[in-house]
Amino acid sequence: METSGARPYRSVLYIPASRERALEKARALPADAIIFDLEDAVPPEEKPRARDLLARLLAEADYGARARIVRVNGLGTVWVEGDLRAFAAHPGVDAVLVPKVNGPADLDLVAAVVKAPLWAMLETAKGCLNAGAIAAHDRLEGMVMGTNDLVKELGARFRNDRLPLMAGLGVCVLAARAEGRVIVDGVFNAFRDAAGLRAECEQGRDMGFDGKTLIHPAQLAVANEVFAPSEEEVDLARRQIAAYAEARSRGEGVAVLDGKIVENLHVAAAAVLIGKAEAIAARSIAAAAV
Ligand code: COA
Ligand code: MG
Repeated sequence: METSGARPYRSVLYIPASRERALEKARALPADAIIFDLEDAVPPEEKPRARDLLARLLAEADYGARARIVRVNGLGTVWVEGDLRAFAAHPGVDAVLVPKVNGPADLDLVAAVVKAPLWAMLETAKGCLNAGAIAAHDRLEGMVMGTNDLVKELGARFRNDRLPLMAGLGVCVLAARAEGRVIVDGVFNAFRDAAGLRAECEQGRDMGFDGKTLIHPAQLAVANEVFAPSEEEVDLARRQIAAYAEARSRGEGVAVLDGKIVENLHVAAAAVLIGKAEAIAARSIAAAAV
């Protein structure tokens, strides 16, 4: 199993780059990553001002350990060239997120200009069908599901169980895992509905997503909790590792713990889970020290 790296991406918060107060506020919010949005959340008349504001802010403001991801406007729009120029080699940017990626050639266009790692929005039918080739792009680091756009493009309907989206979500998770990329689930629109958000986070977590994109600070706590290994899971992982080591010392290749078998693959998964829990704990300590 390939892993998606130690950096946690449980909570990935969108902020419209035109909202100065929200940009400022985010420096103290418990988000693992921030997507500074120049695309859908910024109205056309605000685009140039938002770009300038963001470029200035990211040069000065301290976002601590939070990953700083800039979502540029779509390829083929009148704004994307200016966006790419402003953030191509910006020292305050950890990654550039490209919307509506349909195939690896779209990433080639951005990779020719941008120095930072690339992220791709998977939110078109073509993009989902080409997910494997997109994930395999050598400059790609992470993938983000754009579920609102995908529902629109499919002519599907929003349902609590997200059954109409399962083929698209599933193929993108497969693609990300095949290439060892980070993959983050789409947003939950009803930002005051904590129970609904929790259910959708749990569904995404169970499918293999690293975390969830969010639109409002009220959603951070639920995503951070759901996508972190629980104490019980960490405890089980430690006991699995110990039980397997003990079985090996007796010359056996399989251990039995709580009535279930433990093989080397379970031990590898347990080590990944503990690594993730440790990265999250280190993040909390760093945040508390600021
Ligand atoms: N990131 C950081 N801070 C945010 C925020 C966000 N995404 N959304 C709201 N806040 C802040 C507000 O600035 C406000 O702070 P203040 O009280 O210190 O002024 C506080 O959180 C409470 O905000 P609230 O009044 O509840 O929400 P709102 O009406 O200001 O905004 C939305 C609601 C949905 C318009 C706003 O959350 C938003 O724009 N979200 C992002 C949308 C987006 O990026 N979409 C594109 C991808 S799908
Ligand atoms: Mg979109």
